[in-house]
Amino acid sequence: MISEKTVQEIFETARVEDIIQDYVSLKRRGVNLIGLCPFHNEKTPSFTVSPAKNIYKCFGCGKGGNAVQFLMEHEQFSYPEALRHLAGKYGIEIEEDEVSPEERLRQQRADSLFLVNDFAKDYYQKQLFETDMGKSIGLNYFKERGFREETIKKFGLGYAPDGRDVFTQTAKQASYDPELLKQLGLTTEFGRDFFRNRVMFTIHNLSGKVVALAGRIMAKDVKAPKYINSPETEIYHKSKVLYGAYFAKGPIRKADECILVEGYTDVISLHQAGIENVVASSGTSLTTGQIHLIKRYTSNVKVLFDGDSAGIKAALRGIDMLLEQDLNVRVVILPEGEDPDSYLQKVGTTAFQEYINGPEAKDFILLKADLLLKEAGSDPIKRAGLIKEIVSSIARIPDPLKRSLFVKECSRLFEVDEDLLINETNKAVASQMKRRQQEKEIERRRQQRMADRARQQSFPGIENDFPTQEPGYFPEEDHGFPPEQYPEPVQEKKPKQSSATGHEFQEKDIVRILISSGGEIYDKEENITVAAYLLENIEDVIDDFDNQLYKAIAHECQELLAQGKEMSSKYFLNHPDQKIQVLAVNLLTSPYEFSENWFNKWEIFLNQKAPDNNFKKDSHKALMHFRLRKITRICEKNMKKIKELSDAGDHEEAVRYLQVQKKLTDIRNDLAAQLGAVIIK
Ligand code: GTP
Ligand code: MN
Repeated sequence: MISEKTVQEIFETARVEDIIQDYVSLKRRGVNLIGLCPFHNEKTPSFTVSPAKNIYKCFGCGKGGNAVQFLMEHEQFSYPEALRHLAGKYGIEIEEDEVSPEERLRQQRADSLFLVNDFAKDYYQKQLFETDMGKSIGLNYFKERGFREETIKKFGLGYAPDGRDVFTQTAKQASYDPELLKQLGLTTEFGRDFFRNRVMFTIHNLSGKVVALAGRIMAKDVKAPKYINSPETEIYHKSKVLYGAYFAKGPIRKADECILVEGYTDVISLHQAGIENVVASSGTSLTTGQIHLIKRYTSNVKVLFDGDSAGIKAALRGIDMLLEQDLNVRVVILPEGEDPDSYLQKVGTTAFQEYINGPEAKDFILLKADLLLKEAGSDPIKRAGLIKEIVSSIARIPDPLKRSLFVKECSRLFEVDEDLLINETNKAVASQMKRRQQEKEIERRRQQRMADRARQQSFPGIENDFPTQEPGYFPEEDHGFPPEQYPEPVQEKKPKQSSATGHEFQEKDIVRILISSGGEIYDKEENITVAAYLLENIEDVIDDFDNQLYKAIAHECQELLAQGKEMSSKYFLNHPDQKIQVLAVNLLTSPYEFSENWFNKWEIFLNQKAPDNNFKKDSHKALMHFRLRKITRICEKNMKKIKELSDAGDHEEAVRYLQVQKKLTDIRNDLAAQLGAVIIK
């Protein structure tokens, strides 16, 4: 790790204008420099660099930061990469911190794996360009496919000769560890070459290091698999790699779009034609890890499907994952029998671009709706199934606004009542939420078991001395969804930090609890429900709600309670008032969405068991916060009144108010103490 001291030195030395001038031509304007923003397309410059502040800011797209951020953004460098780049530029010597022996070992191992892979890549490349067999078989093959030499070099393509162990012997002679060769899958268990008589593809990670290799067979119609690949290793996690990402990351950011294809050759072909924002999933269905990779650079994805894709419908199902991750997905189906590579070579770059950017690029949901409609025809049973299917896709979109747009469009397409679709979508959202929570819970238990096991192994017999780890401890990389992604309430204003809307946080939480668990029993002995408990406790301030919708819901709950009617989330999910319905869906899909102003989100994670049986604690806390807010406000009003009265000379009345004030502050301080909150005034 780069030492803190070096980091400091780099930050102090690096001049933002020096760095940016390597990429953008800047003109002086007053104390600042300005130029055309490299992060978005513009004709008049709004990209401003302030040497005095040592920062840049684009007033067009909003991007801004210091030299390190610029490099990370523009060059897609990681943080340490950016630091090293700057250190190199300014001749700063990098001092490394001591790392733990395990970490050093891990790093050394990874380094040696990269080294061996790199050697292999060079070897195959040499074979391709410098041997007779390589030239006549491999190079010829690539050239016939229309790949130019510069492209072949850029992508590190190669040729693996046909022999028992020519590569393995060469590597051994160059003193590469035979063990590592095997681990990387370059040599088989029996000491033979794994890649034989195949053209080779290099798979890079985001920083351009060789993590794996793939070999394509050249003969047609043979039994052997068309492609064979390196196995998973510490440096190659298939599910987190997208082919071509190293070359595509910059262009993806620039185009604000990622084109997704299936094959290696599709990526290469498109790049060669100047369409560089393209990556491949390498034939497998997309993984969450790969989607996260895309999301780092853009939220727009265009998926190109081969025209002969056996089951386009089945393939479409995989795309639902992209929706869940809040990406905008468009789909282009290529003409019958074509894949991106073949179609591009057939029609040329211009026509290809026109095709994938024209009307053939369809929004995923609408395309799916279209395909389903065609399939179902006028069969009413099939049409009912179709609605379920499309609704399940729409329900995955985290943004409620987007959801409602698609609902509208689909109701028009299917000629069904919009309310019906809304209802179905809401149900699907709720059930998907439930499924995800179950998955999360399963994952949590799994993690728990692993932690328990690990603990028992390292401290046999004394496991009880250790606190149980709660779910929040574990990173949730590929499972479930971070709570903040699900979903934003459609009808509501974004939470602002101002005190005017500050009350809405608490109000919303009260309403959330009423809707999600109002009907649950809060106290068994007293046989009182959560709703009864909450409403009784806020009766005096209920008209003090700032948010009218929340107030209406609270009143309605009072009504239900008075009439002895049952209260359940179902009631609100099917509420005749559309606004309440939508709110219910959104509140129910974000059970963890507490106001950050109140208390640390993580605290909830750590304390929370299953969300469903936690409503007692949940309501209690929410209630106290709610009351604290309201009481504080009443305190303030009361104080004002006292001041008015004493200014007007009505001291008797002022004293009366002062007594009230004393009571109010007592209540307030008591609440605050219980919550551990600090009263500022
Ligand atoms: P060309 O046929 O050379 O144009 O390659 P392609 O990339 O178009 O191949 P295809 O469309 O058949 O497959 C798409 C991707 O799926 C390939 O790029 C590979 O990543 C993967 N793939 C295809 N066949 C195999 C196979 O037999 N084994 C493995 N592991 N992957 C395969
Ligand atoms: Mn192909």
